[in-house]
Amino acid sequence: MATMATERVLSVHHWNDTLFSFKTTRDESLRFENGQFVMIGLEVNGRPLMRAYSIASPNYEEHLEFFSIKVQDGPLTSRLQHLKVGDDILVSRKPTGTLVVSDLNPGKHLYLLSTGTGLAPFISVIQDPETYEHFDKVILVHGVRNVNELAYQDLIENLLPNNEFFGEMVREKLIYYPTVTREPYKNNGRLTDLMKSGKLFADIGLPPINPQDDRAMLCGSPAMLKDTAEMLDSFGLTVSPRIGEPGDYVIERAFVEK
Ligand code: A2P
Repeated sequence: MATMATERVLSVHHWNDTLFSFKTTRDESLRFENGQFVMIGLEVNGRPLMRAYSIASPNYEEHLEFFSIKVQDGPLTSRLQHLKVGDDILVSRKPTGTLVVSDLNPGKHLYLLSTGTGLAPFISVIQDPETYEHFDKVILVHGVRNVNELAYQDLIENLLPNNEFFGEMVREKLIYYPTVTREPYKNNGRLTDLMKSGKLFADIGLPPINPQDDRAMLCGSPAMLKDTAEMLDSFGLTVSPRIGEPGDYVIERAFVEK
């Protein structure tokens, strides 16, 4: 079997000048765990140009969804941002990645800590009923510079809590904490600073992160991952060393420079 499938773009949504999402058809043989990524891309000068993208849709959906930045001189995203319904896109057949619930030790609270497009894998994870079966609370933190980068708010705040199959679990367990660093908003500041000061925990009404109860998944820029991992280490959590070996938290780069 070829290592890549050619899929068709089903819809494109532009959130603002720098962010967009799109849906594609899904090869029926493609199986993945919520939170994993695949390589996707376009044929450029007769060659596939591929980048890693987290799958934002849950694995029970018939389509695939991706969330991307637009980099004006980015080899791939300078082209991807012009995708139209009906266009072809290449999708690798080998999903992988560290952000899977099965690689976390059992716990009470699951923190999904993201900045920018690092939100993407968590859009899949929060649509997985199993996530809610494993944890009492699921806290989705999304840090961005500007308010207009807070993508997927309608899904998180309206559609999921009203989902006919698992809306009740979402209403009971999912806590959404968007935070903005460069303009006024109801929550301001970097998620690292909000954890350090304790403001995040006070705002959501949970105790500060501790190794007995708390687990986390991290997805963002290299600097965000480094600082956030250091903070979790200081709270006494241990990182999963590799795929298949559980830890208190797991890490993935948001693959930003595209
Ligand atoms: P800030 O505006 O203070 O840089 P970026 O677009 O650069 O990836 O940033 C996305 C969000 O992540 C911004 O709110 C940014 O805050 C924040 N951020 C950047 N670096 C870090 C870091 N090392 N730790 C935590 N948050 C960060």
